[in-house]
Amino acid sequence: MIGRLVVVGLGLIGGSFAKGLRESGLCREVVGVDLDPQSRKLAVELGVVDRCEENLESACVGADVIQLAVPILAMEKLLARLAGMDLGQAVLTDVGSAKGNVVRAARETMPGRLSRFVPGHPIAGSEQSGVEASNAALFRRHKVILTPLAETAPEALAVVDRLWRALEADVEHMQVERHDEVLAATSHLPHLLAFGLVDSLAKRNENLDIFRYAAGGFRDFTRIAGSDPVMWHDIFLANREAVLRTLDTFRSDLDALRDAVDAGDGHQLLGVFTRARVAREHFSKILARRAYVDAMNSNDLIFLAQPGGRLSGRIRVPGDKSISHRSIMLGSLAEGTTEVEGFLEGEDALATLQAFRDMGVVIEGPHHGRVTIHGVGLNGLKPPPGPIYLGNSGTSMRLLSGLLAAQSFDTVLTGDASLSKRPMNRVANPLREMGAVIETAEQGRPPVVIRGGHKLKALTYALPMASAQVKSCLLLAGLYAEGQTSVTEPAPTRDHTERMLRGFGYDVKVDGATASLVSGGKLSATHIEVPADISSAAFFLVAASIAEGSDLLLEHVGINPTRTGVIDILRLMGGDITLENQREVGGEPVADLRVRGAKLKGIDIPEHLVPLAIDEFPVLFVAAACAEGRTVLRGAEELRVKESDRIQVMADGLLALGVKCEPTPDGIIIDGGEIGGGEVHGHGDHRIAMSFSVASLRASAPIRIHDCANVATSFPNFLALCAEVGIRVAEEGKS
Ligand code: S3P
Repeated sequence: MIGRLVVVGLGLIGGSFAKGLRESGLCREVVGVDLDPQSRKLAVELGVVDRCEENLESACVGADVIQLAVPILAMEKLLARLAGMDLGQAVLTDVGSAKGNVVRAARETMPGRLSRFVPGHPIAGSEQSGVEASNAALFRRHKVILTPLAETAPEALAVVDRLWRALEADVEHMQVERHDEVLAATSHLPHLLAFGLVDSLAKRNENLDIFRYAAGGFRDFTRIAGSDPVMWHDIFLANREAVLRTLDTFRSDLDALRDAVDAGDGHQLLGVFTRARVAREHFSKILARRAYVDAMNSNDLIFLAQPGGRLSGRIRVPGDKSISHRSIMLGSLAEGTTEVEGFLEGEDALATLQAFRDMGVVIEGPHHGRVTIHGVGLNGLKPPPGPIYLGNSGTSMRLLSGLLAAQSFDTVLTGDASLSKRPMNRVANPLREMGAVIETAEQGRPPVVIRGGHKLKALTYALPMASAQVKSCLLLAGLYAEGQTSVTEPAPTRDHTERMLRGFGYDVKVDGATASLVSGGKLSATHIEVPADISSAAFFLVAASIAEGSDLLLEHVGINPTRTGVIDILRLMGGDITLENQREVGGEPVADLRVRGAKLKGIDIPEHLVPLAIDEFPVLFVAAACAEGRTVLRGAEELRVKESDRIQVMADGLLALGVKCEPTPDGIIIDGGEIGGGEVHGHGDHRIAMSFSVASLRASAPIRIHDCANVATSFPNFLALCAEVGIRVAEEGKS
């Protein structure tokens, strides 16, 4: 509880702050100060404050908190006046849009009072102004940046923090200098450009015509030129240095654009425009709180699956994740323009796409699964502007490590909480043997720091585990390593890298379990058609199998023999799956899969099928839970280091639903039977969330699945397709 709050300056911001806190009941008394008698009168009439004072000194007597909400250039004089008063222990704070000048003035005028000073800046406002526009909810869900000084006392900071939070603002703390840099770039520069552009056009002779034909683009771009000129004049004078720095950088970028137009350099223009477009989408998501980073961090996206149902119809699940990743990587390193169709627009593949954009590759799309990649050749990547964020995607991190180990520049690869727990030594160690310089966090975890400029030498390597990611990583590094790189796998794993390299005209030799290539070649752009992902189809293969009376057709599914373990296992369990219309598309076999409901029985899963169904086990466990008898899985310890520990996490969920099962170090034993309803957890793992959605078909009560946001990593339209075929799962609260 605060005793007396004094707000100096009753404009939109000061008035809204006063009104919101008065309504919150957090302050015993809210007193307003303003030079304008009309504003003081209105403030009381509108309930913005309890009372007003004309005189600053008498208003501040007995104040606990004093909020300075006057125009930024008036701040200096105000601080000087306050310095001459006895303010007791009152906490002083402000709302100025630039912080450096306010802090400088405070240091000069009241050096002894800095412990009670908490500089602040609410990033909120509107084209309205004046006390009559005061809005108690103005700051709700808006950012407020506090820039405490080294001298600021923690309890003073806590008081101001508390007040803003009471107004439901998102409070952040920042260094003064950083605040001014950030605001110069994101707010001050755009205002300068908008004012400048309108004035520049208005000065021309033909201005009437220009404005008559100005369309939406002009209106949108120049909306902020309608802002208060005096206030903005103040801000530019107050934040001079930071504005000049950002303006100079922008001026040279503008010159580069001018040169590109002059030289008819369409490639350069397309690069700037495509990068800007995605960056803007990304920013808008952040602003609307829909950023995938945000979604990944929020553990509360809940799927609610209703029991029962039967599947029918025909659907095409999204593009293959593994092939989508590789299409971007090889397309970027190729010479010429690669067209991709059927690209998976899920967060994982988008993370790879963004990584290459960050390294200077011009990539158009994705638009309805179409992507156009303007390849830069094997040696054409540029240093990224900062760390490369790969979200949830292990494939991106492992494959990129191989590729980046051979570049001339340094890179840092980071990821979300799930990816940050996954082992990267399996790629870092063999890459080091090739001469790469790589650092990881403890126990080989991300972030992965890769030092550029090291010549690689070829390696002959026997994989200690069956991993297509490690194999692919080393083959990609091998493109740059002196000599022949050979990788031998202990069991067959997906061979999309080998196939696609050949599709790009690169010679890869496969001899039994060994794949080899020699550096020195080049990749030539090609056309890639990505088949539907059998790993996504798997959820529907199991769903239709366990739901009696189902009959479903899954179109255009990739049936590369290194991926079809799920079909073999379901058939061994008695599943009714037929392959129709088999054909080959761009070096990958595809078919339409027809699946009907069947009585499944438990089996001992043959170990040789494990790598061929590695991503499908979570949903196969659901099939096992619905089968008659016992299913035993062995030799699958790799499942423990996927997006989650898939053995433990599935066992926990199945047990919660009343299924009898027992995890073992390298597998699980599941006794089929009844499935109940209940609460289970996705653990940030897309395939876990989707598997439990499928389980609902045979459950006796609803299943609530927590932590489902990551379904978007591989299967963004999962819920829509479920609804289409008859699985009754939806985001909780939405029908
Ligand atoms: C993948 C390989 C597999 C798989 C992953 C994708 C790939 O991982 O689980 O989803 O695209 O190469 P491992 O190589 O670690 O088994």
